[in-house]
Amino acid sequence: MTNDVVDIGKGEPDFHTPEHIKRAGHAAIDQNFTKYTPQPGIPELREAIAWKFEVENGIHVSQQQVVVSCGGKHAVDNALRVLVRPGDEVLIVSPFWFAYPEQVRLCGGVPVPVVAREENGYLPDPAAVRGAVTSRSRVLIINSPNNPTGAVYPRDLLRDLAGIAVERDLAVLADEVYEKILFDGAEHVSIASLDSRIAARTVTVNSVSKTHAMTGWRIGYAALPGTLADRVTAVQSVTISAPSAISQRAALAAFNGDQDHVARMAQAYAERRRYVLERIDRMTALSTYPCLGTFYCLVSVSPLLGRAVNGVAIGNADVFAERLQREARVRVVSGVGFGAPKHIRISFAVGMDTLIEGLDRLEQFVTRCVME
Ligand SMILES: Cc1ncc(COP(=O)(O)O)c(C=O)c1O
Repeated sequence: MTNDVVDIGKGEPDFHTPEHIKRAGHAAIDQNFTKYTPQPGIPELREAIAWKFEVENGIHVSQQQVVVSCGGKHAVDNALRVLVRPGDEVLIVSPFWFAYPEQVRLCGGVPVPVVAREENGYLPDPAAVRGAVTSRSRVLIINSPNNPTGAVYPRDLLRDLAGIAVERDLAVLADEVYEKILFDGAEHVSIASLDSRIAARTVTVNSVSKTHAMTGWRIGYAALPGTLADRVTAVQSVTISAPSAISQRAALAAFNGDQDHVARMAQAYAERRRYVLERIDRMTALSTYPCLGTFYCLVSVSPLLGRAVNGVAIGNADVFAERLQREARVRVVSGVGFGAPKHIRISFAVGMDTLIEGLDRLEQFVTRCVME
């Protein structure tokens, strides 16, 4: 059976890995660079990453404070393993990337969502963050640009959050994997760049996945203050030994080589984003707060909840997404797993033809929901 589902839910760039990066991977194989590497990564890659943190993010770390992992997801997991003890509370700004709460639970921690409201552009209210801190709070996870909301945290907000972290002795886990995908002049600021006090308690996670269209290579990395890099290396030594040698060589080419593809992809996302926002704007039953970063748009389906399609009541975004796929052959991602049960996430990391067809079908489905 042919798969006639139009997928506008994808969480990875539709672009191929740039040629010079692929060539570095080929060369690694040809040169038999196929053995285990040092556990925290090859020195030249750690050095390139330390330099990148310094120059692009204003984060001052030595090569020894950088650990290379199997993707940003693995880097988050590593950090939580060394930061969280059973019973510790981890504050997570909600809506959140679905993996964080589960990763916290795997460490025996307790995820504590702090709601960032749509009317505030999905930016967390510092007073709400402060109010959620208890004597068990240990870590604050922030993700800017944010998946799934597309919110980009301004410098002043980060300053407020840094103040709370310092005052209440919290570690901060800053996930910055979408840092290069920004719109309408939004600026990416790394919280660890603000001052030395916040830098000393922040783990900054990043990855080559989204920036360089390298999701399948599985390379992420983190800047880890104090002794954390040694502790993460100790964890890595018993969990994975080291990331793939071949992928590390490819990642090295991503850092040291031509960067044109980064802006080219961001430009394509910007054009598609404009189109998505226009289309959503015209669908009166749907609404969205314009994303300022990432390739996602979190769309409220709230007015449609409680309605029915073909006799099936749409109770939440899970049912909406399921019905949409079954009836209209469009895949989006339900917001339920992101802590947004009245929203769906649309991705514009797909070609324009796919986007047009997907949004046409979504519009027809929404019209049906409204009519029935
Ligand atoms: C917010 C966020 N962090 C981290 C990741 C992990 O990316 P990767 O493990 O591919 O580097 C993702 C992937 O979707 C993400 O959305």
